[in-house]
Amino acid sequence: MSGAKVLVVDAGGRGNAIAHAFARSEAVGTVYVAPGNAGSEMMDKCRLATVDGKVPKSIPDLLKFAQKESIDLTFVGPEGYLSEGIVNAFEADGQRIVGPKKEAAILEGSKCYTKDLLKSLRVPVPPCRNFSDPSEAKEYAREIFAEDPRNGAVIKADGLAAGKGSIVCFSQEEALSTIERIMVSPRLFGRAGERIEIEKRLQGRELMFFALSDGRTVLPLESALDYKRAFAPDEKVAVRLFNKLSGNPNIDNNPNTGGMGGFSPHPWLDEELTDRIMKRIAVPTVRGFKDATGHEYVGVIYFGLMISEEREPYVLEINVRLGDPEAEVILPRLKTDFYQLSSAVLDGRLDRVKLEWSKEHCLGVCAVSGRAIKPLSSGGGERPGYPGEHYTNMPISGLEKVDPDVLVYHNGTALGNDAQEKRRLFTTGGRVLTLVAHGRSLGEARTRAYENIKRIRFNGMRYRKDIGQDYV
Ligand code: GLY
Repeated sequence: MSGAKVLVVDAGGRGNAIAHAFARSEAVGTVYVAPGNAGSEMMDKCRLATVDGKVPKSIPDLLKFAQKESIDLTFVGPEGYLSEGIVNAFEADGQRIVGPKKEAAILEGSKCYTKDLLKSLRVPVPPCRNFSDPSEAKEYAREIFAEDPRNGAVIKADGLAAGKGSIVCFSQEEALSTIERIMVSPRLFGRAGERIEIEKRLQGRELMFFALSDGRTVLPLESALDYKRAFAPDEKVAVRLFNKLSGNPNIDNNPNTGGMGGFSPHPWLDEELTDRIMKRIAVPTVRGFKDATGHEYVGVIYFGLMISEEREPYVLEINVRLGDPEAEVILPRLKTDFYQLSSAVLDGRLDRVKLEWSKEHCLGVCAVSGRAIKPLSSGGGERPGYPGEHYTNMPISGLEKVDPDVLVYHNGTALGNDAQEKRRLFTTGGRVLTLVAHGRSLGEARTRAYENIKRIRFNGMRYRKDIGQDYV
């Protein structure tokens, strides 16, 4: 096939959505995805990358694949590869690759470093301090609750912890026990929790804000409203059952996940707030990082923000990538050619780009591996489901009944043979599929998403029923 060859490095639904965005470019002939999943092969022009029948996973193997296939452009999804230096390794070989280098990926890789940097740049952050001594950390937590027992504290492991390293505590007791569990025993996040950052929980509304940088120019991307809690607010019984089965002491805590769905455009991120975030946060961070370290920030930058009642933004965290499942509802709305846009990032030409977005609404619902019982004959028992322990390797059915213009991005699936030697799709993770419907209104997108997701089935399948509900 003629046209450019692209490699997308990602294993999840975000990788499916990035690959799909590249595949829509007329300049692109083939999109390879690695490590990928079964969904990586289901879109036009897209296929799994393989070398000698195996999917490349390590940075050296991915580089060998790029060399062998003469890949024109590589785009990296997850933070792990970026922190390990995939961009440094590819660039050293002369490859064109979009993403921040290892030196810049520290903005996600170390929460303590980032908060210190932002404070030095006068970029607004909540009151916060870093600790490597658990006794000093506990003292600070006591101070937060002594000031006002209604305060909350957010305790964050310094290093990468698969998106689970940030714990919101609503009482002093909970905060002290969280510090103990991260830093002393059982060391919940291993070495990532040797240092921690503690911040006072701010009141306001959380906002995920995405921008694209070529090192000099920073362009805002459109955003999505996401749903992080595992259960809808009215699912109190399910929350209790989840915590009981998980052995969690806080029985009413609705657990955080990587995301259960979302929609785009964002309902209250308007032009004025976008400008304010760009001026106060995004541009000073990218420029200040260059001035402080000598390293340019190139790629997607994703700010987790708290917006106060006065509409002032504060940075809670920085991620060095697109969000998952945010990418699944944002990228289908991008009308600008994604290959040309990625090339502009690499060539330092973002100042000449004007992004175009569809006015349509996209709403995504994640189907996850929920509470399930497996027969004792197969080593069974009841598991609470994502984001706790869950079963995988469950056959999935009904995808063929989904309307052709509804997108199904795969988060955790693989093809395999069932007991009758029939080729089928199986679950491989906590988040399994993100179904994305579009519509002229949010209501239309929502109705179509929920009509279609009902047609898909697997043992233990669960999804939130309230995505977008309060905004239609
Ligand atoms: N959806 C949250 C994240 O990607 O970090």
